[in-house]
Formats: sequence, C-alpha cells, structure tokens
Amino acid sequence: MEYYFVLGKGGVGKSTISILKAIALSQQGKKVSLISLDHAHNLFDILGPNKGSLPRTLKIFEPDIEKFIKHYLQSSEQLLQKNYRYLTALNLEHHFKILKQAPGLEEYGLLLAFRHFWENRARKSEVLIFDMPPTAIALKFFSLPFVSLVWIEQLLKIRTEILQKKEIISKIKFGKAEIETDAIKKNLEQQLIFYQTMAQLLKSKHQCKIVLVANPDSVSLAESNRIKQRLFDLGIEIGEFYLNKYQKKMPGLNVSRVFKGNVRKIPQAAGGLVGVEALSLFLNECSAELI
Ligand SMILES: Nc1ncnc2c1ncn2[C@@H]1O[C@H](COP(=O)(O)OP(=O)(O)O)[C@@H](O)[C@H]1O
Ligand SMILES: [Mg+2]
Repeated sequence: MEYYFVLGKGGVGKSTISILKAIALSQQGKKVSLISLDHAHNLFDILGPNKGSLPRTLKIFEPDIEKFIKHYLQSSEQLLQKNYRYLTALNLEHHFKILKQAPGLEEYGLLLAFRHFWENRARKSEVLIFDMPPTAIALKFFSLPFVSLVWIEQLLKIRTEILQKKEIISKIKFGKAEIETDAIKKNLEQQLIFYQTMAQLLKSKHQCKIVLVANPDSVSLAESNRIKQRLFDLGIEIGEFYLNKYQKKMPGLNVSRVFKGNVRKIPQAAGGLVGVEALSLFLNECSAELI
C-alpha cells in the first residue's frame, strides 16, 4: 500500500495534480483510489462529464464529511446517554447542541473520512491518493493524531490510577480484588493504538508520501516553506515537491530555498485543464514526472 497526501496553497493545482497522478499510476496497472478530503470537493468538476475513458483501476470518491461528523456526534450522544443517564443535571442534550459548533470538529471529520478509506479501501487498492483541503485545516488534520496521543496517554494514566484505587477499595470490602475489564480503559487503549498507527504511517517515508504543490511565485513558495516547517516539527517529511504551472523563463525564482531535493516541474498548460480528454492529453507531456 502506498499513500499520497497532496498539499499546498489554495489554487496551486492540488486537485489537478492529484487527478493527473491518479491517472498516471492507474495507467501503470495499479489499483488506485483518489479521495477528496476537501469539504469543497471539486474532483468531479475538474474531470467533467466524460469519465468513461478513465482507467478501470481508478476509483474516485468525494465523501460527505458532514455525514461522518453527524454520525460521530450521534453515536457519542447515545453512548453518553446510556452511561450517564443518572446525570440529569448535566443536560446532555444541551451539551450536544453546542458540540456541533465545537472547534476541532472539522478536522476530526476529515480524520473520520480518512479512517474510513484507510480501513475499508486498503484491502482493495494499492495506492490511496488524498486530495487535501487548504493549508490551515490540512495542517490541523496532520497534527490531530499527535495531539490526541498526548491526551490519550494522560487519560490512560488517570484511568489506571482510578482502577487501582477501585481495586484497593474492593479488596477492603470483599477481601479480594475484583477482576474486571474496564470499558473506558479498553476504549482509550483502542484509540491509542489507532493514533499510534496513524502517526507511524504519516512518518513512514517508505509507505507515505507527502506531496507538496507550489506555483512559481513567491507567495505560494513562502506558504510551502511554512507547511514544510510545520510538518517537520511533527516529524513528517515532504516526499515529493511539484512546481506546477511552470514556465521556462522565471528569473529570480528561488525554489531551492524551499526544497533542496528533486523538484518535479509541471508546465503551465496552454489550454484549460478541465475534462478527461484535456487532462489525458496533458498527461502525455508530463507523465514521467507524476509517477
Ligand atoms: N499545470 C497547469 N496548467 C494550467 N492550469 C492549471 C495547471 N494546474 C492547475 N491549473 C488550473 O488552476 C486552477 C486551480 O487548480 P486546482 O487543481 O483546483 O487547485 P487546488 O486544488 O490547489 O485549489 C484550475 O483552474 C486548474 O485548471
Ligand atoms: Mg482542490
């Protein structure tokens, strides 16, 4: 399994590069899933109506992120109501109405959608390409597993202490310790494993490629530099760097400051890049850069 996450400033060509890459890899005979993790999906808009000529090994998805969030909130509400029915003073319903607006839910929705494809499509595809949303939310998505790990490790510590105290009390009361499996501890341990595996995946240069797309202009290059730094702080490295909409004469452009490794140059297309035909034609020019 190979994973690609395509990142960059808005409008640089993330979705276009994701599509070109997906077509190029599936033309090589690989089973590819291309998934938009941008709330404002536009993969199908870029592909246009004639999708029949796309390789059969390529599957494209625009998941409803809101649906993942709704489902998560509903199941959390049910779980809490079941476990804390006696806490009427807490007014759970009111809490959940507010939670819908909570900060962090947007990126958590992305994480749930990613998890869905990671766990379910992994068996059917060889390559998963994620077309990411604009920088701010994409970076939050990447930091989420690392932040969650800090929280979960602390919560597990607290839960373990609570259980140890419970054990002491039950020893005093009943003369022997009750051996019980604690549902909360089990849930935390499962979450710990999920986030650890996800963090490992994001850091694995062998399995996971972070694809950074920029244009040959100082603004998108500056943003790319910040993305690279922020990911580096999390222990994640850029795998591929694309300079999209490249034109031959570009004096004073300092790309090497942002990316010292191999720069993949994708030229500025003369016509538009909308529709399978235009994309396939363009791919003939630059497929080597995309695989
Ligand atoms: N190499 C290219 N040459 C010409 N136009 C391009 C190229 N790459 C992308 N575009 C155009 O740039 C615009 C933004 O591309 P898009 O892929 O939607 O960017 P993003 O997903 O980063 O917001 C679209 O109109 C697209 O057709
Ligand atoms: Mg896009």
